Formats: sequence, structure tokens, C-alpha cells
Amino acid sequence: MKGILLAGGSGTRLHPMTIAASKQLLPVYDKPMVYYPLTTLMLAGIRDIMIISTPSDLPQFRRLLGDGARLGLRFAYAEQPTPDGIAQAFLIARDWIGGEACALALGDNLIFADHLSALLQEAAARPRGATVFAYRVRDPERYGVVSFGADGMATDIVEKPHNPTSNWAVTGLYFYDERVCDLAASIRPSPRGELEITDLNRLYLEEGTLQVDRLGRGCAWLDAGKPDSLLHAATFVQTLQERQGLLVGSPEEVAFRMGFIDREALRAEANRLIKTELGRMLLDVVDHT
Ligand code: TTP
Repeated sequence: MKGILLAGGSGTRLHPMTIAASKQLLPVYDKPMVYYPLTTLMLAGIRDIMIISTPSDLPQFRRLLGDGARLGLRFAYAEQPTPDGIAQAFLIARDWIGGEACALALGDNLIFADHLSALLQEAAARPRGATVFAYRVRDPERYGVVSFGADGMATDIVEKPHNPTSNWAVTGLYFYDERVCDLAASIRPSPRGELEITDLNRLYLEEGTLQVDRLGRGCAWLDAGKPDSLLHAATFVQTLQERQGLLVGSPEEVAFRMGFIDREALRAEANRLIKTELGRMLLDVVDHT
């Protein structure tokens, strides 16, 4: 399975911070925002990852992430000339995906949960259909909203409804089977002019192959798209790391734990960051795991 990290968009809700800088490169406590969804894809076992961003921001992502070899990954890069919708990612990445199954993670979404890796690997292993995750929120009207039937199966998904029928929002992490590019090519722009990811998900829903996994109380899903949510995300990461001494969203640590790199490669990564607490915490992983 391949993975797309979508990190374009206009970030207007974070202006003026995002006038001259990419939203997904802003810091969330001690790491660039994009590290968090990157580690989510890695925890699903995905090593081939395409980063899609705006023509002006893409060079900064290359500078930060390189070709991925240091993390045992293979990164590819592609431009999205204008923010014409999340589902457009599958048209941009079509040749690179090459008929495989593909996951998509939004570059400003953080998911934190116990046993996340097992949950993600299960989604990645499903041979047919799509898997998305729903999370209970107080403000569902900002998101794609899922309704469930009495049997617990999803019955409908609506993008940014004025009158939401549930509090279950679809998170920015999606797993699709190998038909995804063809299905994405069949959807048309919405009234707001975007190729909507909700329309793609509805195609799977209508054919009965959309699995919606509900993330429960013990999980955190944060989207760092507004000043207050950016601050909440940073505080959340800081609290967990300081209190537990465990890293959140470190691609270096995840690469090591997933077996993509060995202990010596992790030591080299830790040493590159040795002037930081992050580097010291990575050395602790090297020496005590
Ligand atoms: P949004 O938060 O919906 O949009 P945005 O990032 O442009 O921000 P704002 O609403 O403040 O203007 O996008 C969700 C994620 O998807 C975010 O990481 C940006 C990304 N995205 C793209 O890369 N391309 C797109 O065409 C769209 C619509 C979003």
C-alpha cells in the first residue's frame, strides 16, 4: 500500500502565519506539523509516501524530508497548483500510485491513540473497499459527518452539514483499495468548486464497502487549522512528552520501532538533534529499548 500526505491548501484560517509559510510546516510543540500525520502513515506500515503541496511550499518539504532513505522510507513529491479539493490528490498521484491501494493523510491532522498501529494496520490490510475513522466532536458542522444505523453501520456521510444528524466527524485519514484513482476520476466538483473527499467516500458507502471505525474516548484527534487548535495540539504533545517521557509524532522513533531502520541509524538521527530535548529522548530510545 502507498500513502499520500496532503499538505497544500491555503491555510486562510491561520493568516497571517500562513501567508509566507506552509501551515503544515508550522511547529506543533517541538516538531513540524507534518511529522504527526507522517508517523500515522508509517504506523500503518506504509513506506512509499508522496507529499503533495503547493508549488511555492513543496521545496520546503523536500528540504525537511529529503528522499526518505534516512528513515527507511521512499518519498515522492508532487505539486497541487491550486487547492481544488482533497480528492484531487488521487488524480495528481495517479501514475505514481500505479494501480495499488493507497492511504491519504491530511497534513494538519494529529491522531493519538493507544494501539493505533494495530488499528491502522488492520485498515491497511483490508483487501476491498475503504476505511475511514469517525471521532465524536462538539462542532460536527465543520467536517464530513457520518450517521449510523441501529446495527452500527454507516448510513450516510454529508460534508459540512448545516444541521448535523450526529456528532461523528470523519477524520483526515483514509484507506482506499486499488480502485481509488478511477473512482476519484469519476467525481465532479462540488458547488464550492472542490473535488470532495466526502463524495469519494460516498461512492464506497453506496456500494456497501465503506468501513467506518469509531475512535473512542481514549483517542485524541486534533486538526491544527486554527490558532486555538494549533495551541491545543502543541500543549497536548508537550503534556504527554513531559509527563510520560515518551515521544509523540517522531518519525525517527517510529521508523525504528517499525523496523524500517536499525539502532545505529536511530542513533545517528538522535545525534543530529542532540542539542534538543527531542534528540535526547531519541537517544533514550536507542539505549533503553
Ligand atoms: P482545509 O483545512 O479544509 O483547508 P486549508 O488548509 O486550505 O485551510 P483554510 O480553511 O484555513 O483556508 O484543508 C484540510 C487539509 O487538506 C489541509 O492540510 C490542507 C489540505 N488541502 C490540500 O492540500 N489541498 C486542497 O485542495 C484542500 C482543499 C485541502
